[in-house]
Amino acid sequence: MKYKAPRGTRDILPADSWKWEYVEEVFRETAERFGYKEIRFPVFEETELFARGIGDATDIVRKEMYTFSDRKGRSLTLRPEGTASVVRSFVEHNMGRSARVTKLRYFCPMFRYERPQAGRYRQFWQWGMEAIGSLSPAIDAEIILFSVRFFEGLGLKGTEARINSAGCPSCTPAYNDLLRKELEPKLERFCDDCRERYARNPRRMFDCKNDNCQTLLSDAPSILDALCDDCRDHLAKVEAHLAAISVPYVIDSGLARGLDYYTKTIFEIHYTKLGAQSALCGGGRYDELIKELGGNSTPACGVSAGVERLISALEEEGAFRDTAPGPDIYLVAGSDEAAESNVTLAARLREKFSVEMDYQGRSFNKQVQEAGRVNARFVIVNKGEGEPLKLREISTGWEASPGEGKLEDVIRDRMKG
Ligand code: HAM
Repeated sequence: MKYKAPRGTRDILPADSWKWEYVEEVFRETAERFGYKEIRFPVFEETELFARGIGDATDIVRKEMYTFSDRKGRSLTLRPEGTASVVRSFVEHNMGRSARVTKLRYFCPMFRYERPQAGRYRQFWQWGMEAIGSLSPAIDAEIILFSVRFFEGLGLKGTEARINSAGCPSCTPAYNDLLRKELEPKLERFCDDCRERYARNPRRMFDCKNDNCQTLLSDAPSILDALCDDCRDHLAKVEAHLAAISVPYVIDSGLARGLDYYTKTIFEIHYTKLGAQSALCGGGRYDELIKELGGNSTPACGVSAGVERLISALEEEGAFRDTAPGPDIYLVAGSDEAAESNVTLAARLREKFSVEMDYQGRSFNKQVQEAGRVNARFVIVNKGEGEPLKLREISTGWEASPGEGKLEDVIRDRMKG
């Protein structure tokens, strides 16, 4: 019997995992500069949290959740996204008592039972951040700017923010009525899912992946014409902030998000060079969710995105170095005695540097080849029998025999350049 990773999941092996570490490091550094602290939350939650939080009418809740009963018959679900869990934690730990804005970030796997295809998995990773406790449009602009800076830090320059408004409870009911009225004459021509969405939440129809439904929606009334003064004013202020911090953006009245909790600002950041699948992240404001999930009414805004898609975009753009980073030093042994003493030398050098060596009794030449293959910066040739150690930088051929006492200093000076 040979086992395989379950459908829609995959291993990230060392040939690629260094790219993941790099992306996570840039994410962490950028988020710290914007004041977002890490939160780690459970892989599963009570099913009800996601059903209420994300919305009963969404594809995620209707079709894509990994839901199971535990041994006591409780219904639990593997997290399909992070926002509902972050809000649950915010309410549970009474984080709102500080009257500050709570800024949280995460970088972790999510689970959705979707048909696997390029860039779509059943276990996928998201980076995300949530700012809870402010109504200010400055927060919306900050989160958009964060996303742009993060992508720039990874080498993706030339992104564009697409922005829309999802309205709020004082303007969406009238808009829903208007949509229903306008779409009713062609309702028969929509897919089964859309007909159900029509009844539950007609705005969800914009989220349909069916081309025919999208064509039928092309002349539907725009939410932008139905916004209340408060929502219109909020959007104008977000725009003004973005212009002031020089973030390129367009208003896209067709932009829809697949989750029900959004109010006011919704956005995606696109990397236009990627063509049709150009969205790098998406998010928005969710001022009603904290109350919906049992907390005090608290405004909030956030963003998240799939890491797999980001890494493919970076690969396509040649944003990664060509090869995985190698060790600082590879120890080559020229005799059995040298192989023995390399064990001690490696232990000593590993106090300061990353060090690799041979464990398989390979020939001298094979060891030298291996040093190149693993992309080591230096080799140290240890011939044994009292011969001095020879240090060589592989890429330049620079050599030195500093004597054991000075070895670390000479390597460090050379690395500083
Ligand atoms: P979402 O649009 O459902 O939003 O997901 C965010 C991103 O996760 C997508 O744009 C996509 O890159 C990635 N993603 C989703 N499903 C898959 C999949 N099956 N395979 C690979 N990647 C996938 C949210 O999840 C919200 N929590 C965003 C947010 C945060 N809004 C406010 N705060």
